[in-house]
Amino acid sequence: MLMTDIIAKKRDGGELSPEEIGFFVRGVSDGSIPDYQTSALLMAIVWRGMTRRETLELTLAMMRSGETLDLSSISGVKADKHSTGGVGDKTSLALLPMVAAQGVRMAKMSGRGLGHTGGTLDKLESFPGFSSAMSDAQFLGQVERVGFAIAGQTADLDPADKKLYALRDVTGTVQSIPLIVSSIMSKKLAAGADVIVLDVKVGSGAFMKTEADALALAREMVEVGRLAGKRTVACITDMDQPLGRAVGNALEVKEAIALLKGGDALELRELCLTLGSCILTEAGAAENDAAARAKLERGIADGTALAKFAEFIAAQGGDARAVYDTSLLPDAPVKLEVRADSAGYVQRIDAEGVGLVSMHLGGGRETAESGIDLAVGVILNKKRGDAVERGESIATIHARTPESAASAAELLKKAYAIGAERPEAVPFVKAIVRAEEEA
Ligand code: URA
Repeated sequence: MLMTDIIAKKRDGGELSPEEIGFFVRGVSDGSIPDYQTSALLMAIVWRGMTRRETLELTLAMMRSGETLDLSSISGVKADKHSTGGVGDKTSLALLPMVAAQGVRMAKMSGRGLGHTGGTLDKLESFPGFSSAMSDAQFLGQVERVGFAIAGQTADLDPADKKLYALRDVTGTVQSIPLIVSSIMSKKLAAGADVIVLDVKVGSGAFMKTEADALALAREMVEVGRLAGKRTVACITDMDQPLGRAVGNALEVKEAIALLKGGDALELRELCLTLGSCILTEAGAAENDAAARAKLERGIADGTALAKFAEFIAAQGGDARAVYDTSLLPDAPVKLEVRADSAGYVQRIDAEGVGLVSMHLGGGRETAESGIDLAVGVILNKKRGDAVERGESIATIHARTPESAASAAELLKKAYAIGAERPEAVPFVKAIVRAEEEA
């Protein structure tokens, strides 16, 4: 088989066979296919697309390129959650204990932040002593015992995706539904859960800018998951503004804890209840969404979700006292209020812009190797649709120095659009996509 023939076939709109896809993924993994040929095929896929059968084959071949985790030693149904990424997305921190407190186990591998989006592992390291480095045996044992674990992705999981993603990043080939589906779903399948719940973000701070694109991506991921034998559901949710009020590592941890303590937490609460009820119903732990929501809400009200979070932090070496006393978490020395220059309504908050402010303060990574400041970030005191008086605080900057706070405040103002008209309210959860056979 020749790689040049495979590239030409896709260039001309042909459907690749499972053998051709297998040849390609093996060649990427063992280095026998040079980057220029891989890049040429990626670009042909961007232009020509893939049939669902091809996307499934690509996903499975990528999944098989490395280690796959066997969760069968853990009792009951095991669930996993994935978000396509956004600003202020601290969902996993609250969702996993909420679900585990209802008896559904969750086995999750997470990443670190890069650029304007944060990573769950960085956020968790706000707890002194917390570690995400664990052996497979420790991971499986903790999921069984505590109900959930969050580990760093092992180096051997889906090596084909690591190579392909690095190339896509520098060849303009990230934006392709079959390539995004195979990248995300191959990692989820390799991680071994029975139920996969996907949070597909749409809006200015997301990969998918339109609802139509988000829906197409969600449908394809759900169908690939189903064909691979997994119960898969996707929720399409708003990322036209940051999620909740906090952006920055320890600040986001505090917001997630506030939700677990019964605080309001704006749309973060709605998101956790929506994703959580999808997990409980798919796992057979609740009859319907209403029953699942009631369970999850009870788990917050009676403190079991918060206690589960503390148990998890302690199990991974963190100081669990900080769950109950958040003054033990990192706190920035400088706080600066950002005041509105004019009165009106908040019409828009550019999510990516706010993410970049947090990065500017030192809360995000510019390269994979750079260190980060866990204490800094932004609290959004006003969100889309809120009324604002001139001179009123729209946000609070948490910074290391007065100088970085002042420049961050200028940047943050640019992310806010304030105008005379109150913007129309938009639904936060836009759609729930289930497998075609189940719908
Ligand atoms: N996240 C991934 O893991 N892969 C993609 O291609 C896009 C988002």
